[in-house]
Amino acid sequence: MIRQLSIIQTVFSILLMALMLNIQTASAQNTTPSLKETFKDDFFIGTAINAQQIQEKDSVVDNIIKQQFNAVTPENCMKAEIIEPSWNNFNFDLTDKLVAFASNNNIKVNAHNLIWHSQLPAFMYHMQSADSVKQYFEHHITTVASRYDGKVYSWDVVNEALNEDGTLRNSIFLQKLGDNYIVDAFRLAQKASPHSKLYYNDYNIEQPAKRAGAIALIKKIQTAGVRIDGVGIQGHWRYDNVPMLDIEKSIKEFSALGIEVMFTELDLGVLKNPWDNNTADVSATSKADSTMNPYKNGLPDSVAQKQAKAYADLFALFLKYKNVVSRITFWGVNDGESWLNGWPIPGRTNYPLLFDRNFQPKPAFYSVIATKQ
Ligand code: XIL
Repeated sequence: MIRQLSIIQTVFSILLMALMLNIQTASAQNTTPSLKETFKDDFFIGTAINAQQIQEKDSVVDNIIKQQFNAVTPENCMKAEIIEPSWNNFNFDLTDKLVAFASNNNIKVNAHNLIWHSQLPAFMYHMQSADSVKQYFEHHITTVASRYDGKVYSWDVVNEALNEDGTLRNSIFLQKLGDNYIVDAFRLAQKASPHSKLYYNDYNIEQPAKRAGAIALIKKIQTAGVRIDGVGIQGHWRYDNVPMLDIEKSIKEFSALGIEVMFTELDLGVLKNPWDNNTADVSATSKADSTMNPYKNGLPDSVAQKQAKAYADLFALFLKYKNVVSRITFWGVNDGESWLNGWPIPGRTNYPLLFDRNFQPKPAFYSVIATKQ
């Protein structure tokens, strides 16, 4: 009897603790400022959203998304290998859910993406004939873009088509379709999706040579009389190496073309990469290496403070150009689910975002909010 009583007591106190924790989290969320509210007169504030989040599996993250963001980009579910896993076999389930979730919560969807050399379906890697690639290209863009015309706010029509020196990347699309394929992609997207905006998206296009390549590309699309509404600078930088001057020059030069400028995949990682250059090429990976994982037990406060300063400097710059900068999207909601824990080295503990692993706002969150005060 006494034993039973003490079990009941233990169960009761566990339940009580869980309840208190829930109340604490809920009240912390209620008093936390909102990014989308804070910057509502300036630009959209977005996040990448994964399959779990689209399906609203976890109420804590679900509440944060609804409270903090007014734009979402699917992290993976609209990439070719997922949305068209085999030839002419489309899987729209998750994207349909994403579109419904966004519309119910007054959130804009930036659809990512129509044409990219990575995360292609297996059948594309075996395709030899130019004719088959052309057929895939036209059919994929037309089918996906027309289904979500007007239901998504915008498309990343082409992702990462440039090399670091500004020349065109030697992708299967360049090889088989020739160097007009990007103009053609925008032309097809414009026809299939006249009610959504059309963007070019890439990493490192703030860097001079690659930026010049992007400008030439955008001018080529415009000269062909095809619509392009904006350019997305991905923004996968390191907290102690944010290229502020090049970012400012890029905002000026891209906006001078009469298009919107966006920061579409922002994260400021705190870990060193095995190479000197700053790339976000998903195929550039390296082996697991525990010596490259210095903060597995927590982020030192000194680093968190420097990261907060880097984020604040960036947002101050974005605000300076708020007339042409239309959206800032973070690549993920919290540190625990960032792709940078697995790329370029698997199994690391990175801290690139504004919310920590327990979904609590970090110093960087408050420093970003403070840029408006
Ligand atoms: C990343 C996703 O975050 C990962 O989950 C996936 O395994 C690989 O791709 N540039 C892009 C994004 O345009 O689509 C990439 O997203 C990150 C780099």
